[in-house]
Amino acid sequence: MTTIEPHGGELVNRLVPAERREELLKRAVSLKQIRVSSWTISDLDLIAVGAFSPLTGFLDEANYKSVVETMRLVDGTVWSIPITLSIAPEIASTITIGEQVALVGEEDGVAYAILDAMSIYTVDQANEAVKVFKTDDMAHPGVDKLFSRSSTYIGGPIRLLNRPKPEKFEEFYFDPSETRRIFAEKGWRTVVGFQTRNPVHRAHEYIQKSAMEIVDALFLNPLVGETKSDDISADVRMRSYLVLLENYYPQDRTFLGVYPAAMRYAGPREAILHAIVRRNYGCTHFIVGRDHAGVGDYYGTYEAQQIFSHFTAEEIGITPLFFEHSFFCTKCGNMASSKTCPHEKSQHLHLSGTKVRGLLRGGECPPPEFTRPEVAQVLIEGLRDPEYQV
Ligand code: ADX
Repeated sequence: MTTIEPHGGELVNRLVPAERREELLKRAVSLKQIRVSSWTISDLDLIAVGAFSPLTGFLDEANYKSVVETMRLVDGTVWSIPITLSIAPEIASTITIGEQVALVGEEDGVAYAILDAMSIYTVDQANEAVKVFKTDDMAHPGVDKLFSRSSTYIGGPIRLLNRPKPEKFEEFYFDPSETRRIFAEKGWRTVVGFQTRNPVHRAHEYIQKSAMEIVDALFLNPLVGETKSDDISADVRMRSYLVLLENYYPQDRTFLGVYPAAMRYAGPREAILHAIVRRNYGCTHFIVGRDHAGVGDYYGTYEAQQIFSHFTAEEIGITPLFFEHSFFCTKCGNMASSKTCPHEKSQHLHLSGTKVRGLLRGGECPPPEFTRPEVAQVLIEGLRDPEYQV
């Protein structure tokens, strides 16, 4: 049984071993305390468990520049999104290069990690925005987030002292080392990873199942970290995935586990990151459909697919599976895409996100050709429940 090699060759592990934890926790108390957001804590965890292999910490200046300008680390390894730690300049000026600092949760005061401060640098955020997001428009949620942070960054390797605790659905959190083991135990040689920040509608189901026809299993890997405020909450989505899997998917060929990362909305560049991360989780294939990780009209429908041609198959390692925009065709009487359906657009069922949200808010199910009724029911209840307001 071969499992795919992690990106860069080895699965990174920056979790402090149990026997050193007490000592390092004590040390952390004596270090300069840098307050970090829940976004950074999620990055820390993903680095520590190897989801972001080969990164061992936040990018230093040379690697940052290389990633922004060339989509590669200094050593040539493909890396498309800068994973960085921004810091207030007045705090940065008190830190000397080589110093260890403690990264402490701004909300809970927990010491999450120790960072070796190997590089402190100031960046041109407008350039980062244009290179990474292809726009410097503040209406883009990723650009807005970027500019809301200080332009002083601090880089270096990290060691994780404490893991962020999931509030819900803890049983669906798996580290890459665990998913790799589980896939191997199940005897799956090929596994297709599916990224989503949405409920799984029929179009998603169609491309997943088309992929499942040619691989051993599906790893449904919804992103559950920070998303923009009008995306449906992770809790509601999780409940919708469970009812969908239970009713419409073969239990022995599907596996649900969350991807606890923040959504960047960087379209093409994020598609590369998403693929590499799923490789680290042990997937051999990765689905990239229409406007993957896109938002608004910033990216072309298939740009997130085209970007893969900048790299060789060996450099990416995981095999991307590209899917055309899919829909239900009333004339065909089934799900299709322009590759398989000869009929006029007027025969195709198209519903905008706004339209679907409107229906659900009004307690109405979208047509079953668009969303499975069981899924719609969960979403309707979720939208009604004040605890799950979106
Ligand atoms: S994303 O931001 O996580 O990419 P979403 O959850 O909507 O958003 O999409 C998950 C995956 O399904 C992406 O690969 C996306 O390209 C693909 N996808 C979404 N809707 C369609 C569709 N109608 N046809 C084909 N692919 C789609």
